[in-house]
Amino acid sequence: MPRIPDRFIDELLARVDIVEVVERRVPLKKAGREWTACCPFHNERSPSFFVSPQKQFFHCFGCGAHGSAIKFLMDYERMEFPDAVEELARTAGMEVPYEGGGERARDDFSELYAVLEEAARWFQRELPQSPLAQDYCARRGLDADTLQRFRIGWAPSGWDKLQRALGATPARLQLLEQAGLLASNEQGRRYDRFRERLMIPILDRRGRVIAFGGRIVAGAQPARADQAADAPARAAAAGDGPKYLNSPETALFHKGRELFALWQVRQAAGALPRVIVVEGYLDAIALHQHGLPQAVATLGTATTPEHTEMLFRATPDVVFCFDGDRAGRGAAWRALEATLPRLRDGRQAYFLFLPEGEDPDSLVRKEGGAAFAQRLATATPLSEYFFEHLAEDVNVATLDGRARLAERARPLLARLPDGAFRDLMQQALQARTGVSAPPAAAPTTPARAPARRASAVRRSLVREAIAVLLAEPALAAEVAPPWTFAASSQPGVALLIELLELVRARPGISVAALLEHFVGRSEADALHKLALIEFPEAHDLRSEFLGALAQLTRQAHAERLDQLTRKLQQEGLSAPEKSELQALHGMRRHGQA
Ligand code: UTP
Ligand code: MN
Repeated sequence: MPRIPDRFIDELLARVDIVEVVERRVPLKKAGREWTACCPFHNERSPSFFVSPQKQFFHCFGCGAHGSAIKFLMDYERMEFPDAVEELARTAGMEVPYEGGGERARDDFSELYAVLEEAARWFQRELPQSPLAQDYCARRGLDADTLQRFRIGWAPSGWDKLQRALGATPARLQLLEQAGLLASNEQGRRYDRFRERLMIPILDRRGRVIAFGGRIVAGAQPARADQAADAPARAAAAGDGPKYLNSPETALFHKGRELFALWQVRQAAGALPRVIVVEGYLDAIALHQHGLPQAVATLGTATTPEHTEMLFRATPDVVFCFDGDRAGRGAAWRALEATLPRLRDGRQAYFLFLPEGEDPDSLVRKEGGAAFAQRLATATPLSEYFFEHLAEDVNVATLDGRARLAERARPLLARLPDGAFRDLMQQALQARTGVSAPPAAAPTTPARAPARRASAVRRSLVREAIAVLLAEPALAAEVAPPWTFAASSQPGVALLIELLELVRARPGISVAALLEHFVGRSEADALHKLALIEFPEAHDLRSEFLGALAQLTRQAHAERLDQLTRKLQQEGLSAPEKSELQALHGMRRHGQA
């Protein structure tokens, strides 16, 4: 995958003005140094959404939404990261460089997209010509609007119909092969991969066709003898093969990164209350047709963390819907595991298990959309399913059982991002088992209430240094390695050093660009909260910063002094340790430690 270099992101964020980016979509009013509006990410009457031109980020004190101009586009326009970057770059007149790919590779893809689009149209035109396909669609209850909306088509029988229709030149044939539409036998003869199947196009996040799922039509006649006679791959004759044949992984299609119907979901106007995740193509399609246009399907794979990230980017509430059988339960637990690391505050996951023998398609056709929506409303919250599942085969009435439950839960809870939800889950674990989970490191524990005044924030030295550095990144130039406080056992020291080095490597970086480097990391929220702190205009940030670092250094030295003194008394010191101890004593005498 081509990657966008960090340096470009920094430059981009330095070039665009977040106030303009937001203003174009949400009218802003001036409020002191900042701009404000009613938050576009939740319903409110009085404005708690702020955009800071100095810091180049937005923040809502109501719902906690925050981030850079890139993040704003991702949240507001429901864009993926690369698309948001492309969009901003376009308005700033910049060209996005890609590492390990480059312009050329992207141009090549445009031909692949084009041939896939042509194929989709060709399959769509074939659909009304085939009584077999028509009959199947009727049996599955697919109406004309649905067929249109999902661009459902038909791959006719025969070995080279698509090939003959779209592969006029050797170059075109090669393209069809790269697109996964042709396969070839051992003799190297190419043939249509999809034959006598209902064709369901898979669209990417911009609505471009990138692959197909082809469903066999039960009761289909085998290919006619005259066609089968010169068949290059007899084993794959129509009527055989898997129920669903999917495009192979291609340059454009990676199963674990795509969600079927997500594009159609995003087309629906307005805020998305939730997304429903189901297992089958036709499950998702049936839900759309029955008035639940928020259904997406994984593509015959387990739910991946990439999936959950895409889902939560589209909506705060995700309902996973699985069959009630063993396989369904297994899939649900895997989905839960893929969800944990993405469960930032404000995001929620639910699980709905269907009665044995039913899938969403069969159920919604039987009961209707309203009844299905009723079921969705009773879905089990992740927290409940989590403890239920883990306690399934342990007796929590015994000490032993509770210990086992705690042992199972702890590593999973550790995957949750920092925040109120994680704290609640840990409290719930403690309530159930009497065993507490280890507390999170101090600087990553977010302050509960939004604190705007410097004085209102609980401050350790490290937090203080970081907060000042975020208020005035240029201060990093005032200090240089070696970091004399690196050995301090204070939590967050490594983060402080990382920030210092980042700013020193990119002089002039904005706070928003700095924070952008930490997106997706557990420290991101805590850093953002520290960046919110307002210092009074007259505040001497420089002396506060240098003072905090000096104090940290003194602490680090004192800790080391203690450590060496203890070792001296217990087991003696090596020669270098002795001279280090002397040096530390010397520094203390001179007031440096
Ligand atoms: P299911 O076998 O549960 O089928 O596959 P379904 O969705 O109920 O299909 P219908 O209703 O019989 O048409 C669930 C999903 O697993 C993938 C497909 O994505 C399918 O939608 N799958 C299944 C395959 O990729 N290949 C297969 O052979 C079967
Ligand atoms: Mn089904």
